[in-house]
Amino acid sequence: MYTAQIEAAKEQFGKLLEKQLKRVEEMKSQGDFVDYKKLDKIVIGVCGGDGIGPAITAQAQRVLEYLLKEEAAKGKVEFRTIDGLTIERRAAEMKAIPDAVLAELKECDVILKGPTTTPRKGDEWPNVESANVAMRKELDLFANVRPVRIPELGIDWTFYRENTEGGYAAGKEGVNVTEDLGIDFTVVTSQGCERIIRAAFEFAKANKKTRVTAVTKANIIKTTDGKFLDTFYCIAKEYPEITADDWYIDIMTAKLVDEKRRRDFQVVVLPNLYGDIITDEAAELQGGVGTAGSANIGKKYAMFEAIHGSAPRMVKEGREIYADPCSVIRAGAMLLSHIGYQEEADRLYKALDICTVTEKKLVMTGRDTGATGAEFADYIMENL
Ligand code: IPM
Ligand code: MG
Repeated sequence: MYTAQIEAAKEQFGKLLEKQLKRVEEMKSQGDFVDYKKLDKIVIGVCGGDGIGPAITAQAQRVLEYLLKEEAAKGKVEFRTIDGLTIERRAAEMKAIPDAVLAELKECDVILKGPTTTPRKGDEWPNVESANVAMRKELDLFANVRPVRIPELGIDWTFYRENTEGGYAAGKEGVNVTEDLGIDFTVVTSQGCERIIRAAFEFAKANKKTRVTAVTKANIIKTTDGKFLDTFYCIAKEYPEITADDWYIDIMTAKLVDEKRRRDFQVVVLPNLYGDIITDEAAELQGGVGTAGSANIGKKYAMFEAIHGSAPRMVKEGREIYADPCSVIRAGAMLLSHIGYQEEADRLYKALDICTVTEKKLVMTGRDTGATGAEFADYIMENL
């Protein structure tokens, strides 16, 4: 029964295995993290993306240029605007990232990126892969770092989401074996687990955190989540001063809203999909996904972005100038800290705090009843 279909599916599975095994070899031969101090010049690519993206990243760029004015004058940093990562162009070329854009991205050291539209079944766009997911894979940005802080509730969480494996690694390579049977694949490698888990522990150690928590569903997804969890406890042994524990994803989503327990979490490391889900939940507690920044870090490249969408409706209604640039500006602060400008990053965090929490002189409503993104960026610069 179904011999031809099974053979076709096996062939597709075989190709997937070849591709993933090649990736393992690439990971094995990977060097260490780039040392920005050793670069003559750091190239910062600013990639607006879609929808409200270009409008809000332009404001973030103004703020960063202001903070790095002297460095840019000395030739230590250079800003490059990268256009063309739009859904129109991606659809026209049927590419998640057009080749020319990818080549430009690879010329940069770090990237500040606006949101990009991810087509889904049934909408007006062809089924191109998410630009986000493609960029994470192409630039091997394996650590998605998402901090969530709510000081008044005692919450200070840093999520280390694995960014290149899990259900995302072969998300577009699933197989419809027959009309009735669809199969997707979840990919996990020892190297992939090790590098994200080690990054989480190293962060904990460097920032005097005392606890790292792994989140899986290893009781059910035994092979891949099992490997993640085993690797976690194996690496934890190298950090005896840090408490290591683990939770299953279902109860973890509950614990994040448990007022008695949630402030005990510090650093959380988790596979891709669980990280995607739980970081939205966590960001919502902080004030919405629009308030959260996200760092995508690899050994050679790093990309910083907002975790909200591209809000095409705001653009259709001509309201993009009223879009709130705070999330991308926050991502810009993470970028500064990542490339070694910690003092500038701290000034920016402080200004963001004044402008969005303590003083709040301007309000953003997303329409002409509130401030524009440019006015908000001015307000931030006044507070630097
Ligand atoms: C995120 C987003 C992306 C993801 C989408 C846009 C592909 O939800 O960065 O969390 O699922 O990773
Ligand atoms: Mg998400």
